[in-house]
Amino acid sequence: MRPLLAFVTFLAAASCLAAGASFTVDATRSAGQVSPKLYGLMTEEINHSYDGGLYAELIQNRAFLDDAKSPVHWSVVAPEGSAANIALDYSNPLNDKLPASLRLAVTQATKDHPAGVANSGYWGIPVHPKTLYRASLWARAEAGFSGPLTVAIVGEDGRTVYASGKISGVASEWKKFEVMLKTGNVTPTAQAHFEVTLDQPGTVWLNLVSLFPPTWNDRPNGLRKDIMQLLVDLNPKFLRFPGGNYVEGNKIEDRFPWQKTLGPIEERPGHACCWGYRSSDGMGLLEFLEWCEDMQAEPVLAVYAGYSLGGEHVQAGAQLKPFVQEAVDEIEYVTGDTNTTWGARRAKDGHPAPFKLTYVEIGNEDYFEQAKTYDARYAQISDAIRARYPQLKLISTTPGAKLDGRKADMVDMHDYSATDEFIKKSRDYGSGLNRQGPEIFTGEWAAHEDASARPWDAASQKLPPTPTMKAAIGDGVFMAALERNSDIIKMHCYAPLLVNVNPGARQWRPNLIGYDALSVYGSPSYYAIQMFSRNLGDEILPVTFANTSVQGCATRDSQTGEIIVKLVNPELHPQSLPIEIKGVAALESKATIITLAGNPEDTNSTSHPRNVVPVTITLHDVKPGFTYALPPTSIVVIKLKTR
Ligand code: AHR
Repeated sequence: MRPLLAFVTFLAAASCLAAGASFTVDATRSAGQVSPKLYGLMTEEINHSYDGGLYAELIQNRAFLDDAKSPVHWSVVAPEGSAANIALDYSNPLNDKLPASLRLAVTQATKDHPAGVANSGYWGIPVHPKTLYRASLWARAEAGFSGPLTVAIVGEDGRTVYASGKISGVASEWKKFEVMLKTGNVTPTAQAHFEVTLDQPGTVWLNLVSLFPPTWNDRPNGLRKDIMQLLVDLNPKFLRFPGGNYVEGNKIEDRFPWQKTLGPIEERPGHACCWGYRSSDGMGLLEFLEWCEDMQAEPVLAVYAGYSLGGEHVQAGAQLKPFVQEAVDEIEYVTGDTNTTWGARRAKDGHPAPFKLTYVEIGNEDYFEQAKTYDARYAQISDAIRARYPQLKLISTTPGAKLDGRKADMVDMHDYSATDEFIKKSRDYGSGLNRQGPEIFTGEWAAHEDASARPWDAASQKLPPTPTMKAAIGDGVFMAALERNSDIIKMHCYAPLLVNVNPGARQWRPNLIGYDALSVYGSPSYYAIQMFSRNLGDEILPVTFANTSVQGCATRDSQTGEIIVKLVNPELHPQSLPIEIKGVAALESKATIITLAGNPEDTNSTSHPRNVVPVTITLHDVKPGFTYALPPTSIVVIKLKTR
């Protein structure tokens, strides 16, 4: 639409609005304190969130355990004039944790015609210009062969070598090799793979083949920088991990095995993730904690509570005892000083300082359990945790549960609703909350556009992996409700956080942040959350609406006096809204306005990452009573300075 026509349409539509619409902020009193931990993140291994996502490892199936029968994601490199074959080998393993290795037999090769093996990465290996990659592998060779091996990042044409290095001194015993690979001034691409080749006949065995680009804070075994930047920009105060369903596993034996995720990566066997693929566990308990540290966010640790997604449960009592011990030990790993067994283990793993921990969640969505054993399991686990760590706040996963007479400090309530459902229930959300009960953690929530395509429905798989502006409107009205009720709702987090957008990579939609090997983007919902979490006071101000479908909330920063108003216009037309700030004599005439707006179907993607982003302007002539025209389908943050 041309700008002038758009403006005329805007005015015409605005003038059609119901008379008497108003939005009033009562700045004479506070309706409670805004929880300082209100905005956080929720994370688990789903949609290739870590492997093929945040965890920066580029080699898929690096330990050859993803499939017991075949070295999936690996293929023979044998151009004309060379020959090689590969197979999984279970004899003479690197250690008892990694029982398989890859046997590479090169039967014909020369310097001009090398042969070997290639890894396709997670939907390609990202090649960035002038970048240093750390390649490492464990190798052993048949008697009489010592190398060299060439490791390289190679284009899909098989000829373009983006970076390469040599490994020599391979012997008959397992040995670790490391080589730095530097790219030149290349055009970024993910049309590349990783190769290990020989330029003469020989047989070698490979294990734990790894390739890392530079990581956030240069941490070894660290996180992808571009995704981390988006996460840090959300200003999260906590990180809920490791699930979600991922903490439970499909079966008891597939629960998050935190002990097996510690130490050197060549000692981590990985485990079956409940979302249909194997987790490398490169993203282990310490990596989660350091991730928190890097975001200056506090961990909200979910411990396994004896119920798994497929329906299995552990009977409370003697059977549950070892699991209770696991939970108590896990907390010791996080918080114990170095004189404790698990605190000492954490120090050995490289982090002597304990982590700050306030919240522990006992299980995940135990209300789905048919056998209804949560009350007894919660009682046993919470008794043990409270006896040892009385300072911790414990979160129950089951609203309304009796918990065999035990107390939950907080209850986790999940809400995946369609935008229209959120619009309906958010306006009066507070009246449905029990203010006599435990504090509330909305530990998973997200709006989807269409009630007939729920996140778990097959229909949602046909839609793009990340949401549109229509979903962001649902998110906006719900977050306004959460903020208005933040006296009792102490924490909340959108879920899922991350999705690899390649076909076949995801199990759920919508997701907040999308990426492929090369790029990352925030959805409109991401920007909605960013606008809310980065503009937040510490006092809840009561608000009233009349004759408008606009929803919103207001908070005040008690230090600066700034009043932050958040408004969501769900309509396809603009709404001119008279805004009154009661109890404030004067405002500075300039206010900051941050707007996220678009058509309901507008969205972002890897090819159009900034189609829908917030725009900041300065509004002039602001007074305690002023009218603001909210654009169609918009979320608006108004920052008012009081005088
Ligand atoms: O966020 C996706 C899944 O939804 C979580 O793993 C689970 O807790 C919920 O059912």
